[in-house]
Order: sequence, then C-alpha cells, then structure tokens
Amino acid sequence: MILFQWHVALMAAGSLMAAAAVLIAATQRQRRWWLRFHRGAGLSGAFLILTGGAAAVAAVTLDGGEHLRSPHTWFGALTLAAAVATPLLGFLQFKVPERVEGLRATHRLCGRILTGFVLITILLGFRAAGFL
Ligand code: HEM
Ligand code: HEM
Repeated sequence: MILFQWHVALMAAGSLMAAAAVLIAATQRQRRWWLRFHRGAGLSGAFLILTGGAAAVAAVTLDGGEHLRSPHTWFGALTLAAAVATPLLGFLQFKVPERVEGLRATHRLCGRILTGFVLITILLGFRAAGFL
C-alpha cells in the first residue's frame, strides 16, 4: 500500500538527516557553520520522522489494523518521542541559560538514544514487513 511505502521512504530520509546531525556535532564542531547545519539537519530529520510516523498510523488505520501491536511499533513510538525531545532540548539550551549544563548533557544523551532507537526500529521494521 502506498502509505506504507511513504512510511518507509520518510523514515529513511529522516534517519539519514538525524544521522547527519549527529555526525556534524561529533566531528565538525571546530567549523563556524556546524551549529547551523546541525540544527537544520536535526530539525528536518525530526520533522520527516514525525511525518513518517503519521503515515504509519494512517496506513494501519486504513488497513483496519490494531495500533501499536508489535515490537517494531513499540520501538517506533519511542523513536517518535525521542525525535520530539531531542530538538526541544537542543533549543532549550539557548532559552534557559541557568540550566545549560544539564540540558546539554540530556540533549546529547537523547540524541544518542534516538540514534540507537532508529537502528533497532528499522531492523524490526524489515521484520514486520516480512523481509527478515
Ligand atoms: C534530531 C535532532 C538532533 C539530534 C539527533 C542531535 C544530536 C546531538 C548530539 C548527539 C550531540 C553531541 C555530539 C557529541 O558531543 O558527540 C549534539 C550536540 C549539540 N546539539 Fe544537537 N541534536 C539535534 C538537534 C539540535 C537542535 C535543534 C539544536 C538547537 C540549536 C541542537 C543544539 C546542539 C548543541 C548546541 C550541541 C553542543 C552541545 C555541547 O557543547 O556539547 N541540536 N546534538
Ligand atoms: C526510524 C524508522 C521507523 C519508525 C520510527 C517507524 C515507526 C512506526 C510506527 C510508530 C508504527 C505503528 C503505527 C501504528 O501502530 O499505528 C509503524 C508501523 C509499521 N512500520 Fe514502521 N517505522 C520505521 C521504519 C520502518 C521500516 C524501515 C519498515 C519496513 C521496511 C517499516 C514497516 C512498518 C510496518 C509494516 C508497519 C505496520 C506494522 C503493524 O501493523 O504491526 N517501518 N512504524
């Protein structure tokens, strides 16, 4: 079904953008442009992942299926939560200067958790789709 194909395509694009954000933050911090690119890639990645999540929910609804019924969908939901929390914490570092240390550490942790969840969810997605 076309919505499932959109789901996979949006998740693939979103995951690549989120990975680019993590790579830029990890390796390009000495460059002047790093934060602009990190923020842009991170925000686009999160937006694509959330849109991909909406496509999945719509596809399951139209199929008459039950929501959140398998490990892929549970890890998928956790991935969506991390995709909201990570950029939010990224921005909060600049909005709440008196809490910057804690917010920075939590943002970094959340970004790494997001990366891990994305990898697990994609593998489980291939299993849910019958490829593994
Ligand atoms: C999905 C989106 C995002 C992901 C996955 C992500 C992930 C990360 C990771 C993993 C790091 C630590 C890198 C390292 O030390 O190796 C980092 C650092 C940072 N991120 Fe993000 N980020 C995202 C979005 C944002 C946004 C929207 C902002 C807002 C401006 C932001 C601001 C920062 C800043 C300022 C740092 C440096 C913190 C420090 O000095 O250690 N990030 N990010
Ligand atoms: C980061 C990547 C991904 C995330 C965050 C994600 C997230 C989700 C979520 C939240 C659902 C549940 C929708 C609902 O129950 O209403 C879902 C369903 C589904 N996804 Fe993904 N997905 C990802 C990647 C993939 C990939 C790569 C595939 C296939 C190659 C895939 C195939 C499916 C299938 C077949 C379903 C329906 C499963 C069922 O009804 O039990 N997903 N996904």
